[in-house]
Amino acid sequence: MEHLTLKGTDLKVSPICLGTWQFNDSSKDITWPAQSAEESKAIVDKCIELGINFFDTAEAYKNSEKVLGNALEGRRRDVVVASKFGFREGPGTPPYSAKEIEEALTRSLTNLKTDYIDILQIHFPSFVKDAKETIAELERQKALGRIRYYGLSNYGPKNMKEFMEAGGKPVVNQIGYNLLWRSPELAMIPDCRKYGINLLAYSPLQQGLLTGKFSKLSDVPEGRRRGKLFNKDSTPLARHGQEGCEQEVDEALKKISEICKEANVAMNSAALSWILQQDGVEVVIAGASTPQQVIDNSKIVQLENDVIRKMTEATEPVKKKIGATLDQWAPVDRCE
Ligand SMILES: NC(=O)c1ccc[n+]([C@@H]2O[C@H](COP(=O)([O-])OP(=O)(O)OC[C@H]3O[C@@H](n4cnc5c(N)ncnc54)[C@H](OP(=O)(O)O)[C@@H]3O)[C@@H](O)[C@H]2O)c1
Repeated sequence: MEHLTLKGTDLKVSPICLGTWQFNDSSKDITWPAQSAEESKAIVDKCIELGINFFDTAEAYKNSEKVLGNALEGRRRDVVVASKFGFREGPGTPPYSAKEIEEALTRSLTNLKTDYIDILQIHFPSFVKDAKETIAELERQKALGRIRYYGLSNYGPKNMKEFMEAGGKPVVNQIGYNLLWRSPELAMIPDCRKYGINLLAYSPLQQGLLTGKFSKLSDVPEGRRRGKLFNKDSTPLARHGQEGCEQEVDEALKKISEICKEANVAMNSAALSWILQQDGVEVVIAGASTPQQVIDNSKIVQLENDVIRKMTEATEPVKKKIGATLDQWAPVDRCE
């Protein structure tokens, strides 16, 4: 797999990053089923075999850092690891002071069995107590060699502007972006380009919807129906309180399926390739529950312009209904 150099860094990464929210050491969470550490290790092994050298984790992903650290033993220096601080006390986590950032980083280094993290990201803007204090601490950790770079996650245009004006030098912003979740096109993707920040697209398969494996939306597991694409009554787990756009999503998926059949490309490949062919998006962060999914997702293709155009058109009604919101889950947008 061809690697690219992330802008503003010397990090050479695959355009597919493995997302490891699913690495839970056999303890399922609200979104993902149980995955054993052995299954996670087999996924990591498959990535490395295929040239996927970029891994995304977070202190918030139950057991993920530990499972990833164990799976990478002996190979840490061959790969690029991004983690995040935030959610030490769940959704009500108060913002981090410099000392709390340092403590979180120490925990992450221990979990990951490493002495450096390539990119430490701020999981949500709300975890920043004071931008200048946070930036000074991240720069200090960089100087100590405990992190190589720092980055953002779930930053909206206003959040990013404030962080940049405070003197921040983030190298990435990771945000939900896929054919069914295109709100970043309105401002976030152009802003990342303007600031020279790499945009990493998370949930690129919209948590499995864009693989074509669910014949109807009600087949999507409950924890993945919590977001704003679905009606608030689709599951009691939803907290956004909105009507969603299930009809538009259903119609879009049917059209995408037809377009993929005509173009003779699997839907998962088409969905990932569509993102990577958008201007200003460097990397997709895709999760997996099996090594076979990693193989399937590694098949990035060059889609014809006409196919790109048709796929884009198919999801315009969803884009229109979703509007500018960047946050799929919370009633009040956490990404401003
Ligand atoms: N910064 C943030 O706030 C944030 C938020 C969300 C995600 N992320 C990051 O982004 C990563 C990816 O996002 P995500 O996990 O939400 O969504 P995703 O990558 O769109 O979906 C991953 C899931 O889709 C299914 N899948 C993947 N490939 C498949 C294939 N080829 N065929 C059929 N099914 C397939 C698997 O679930 P099943 O097999 O169980 O169906 C897999 O766990 C996360 O792991 C995390 O690292 C970050």
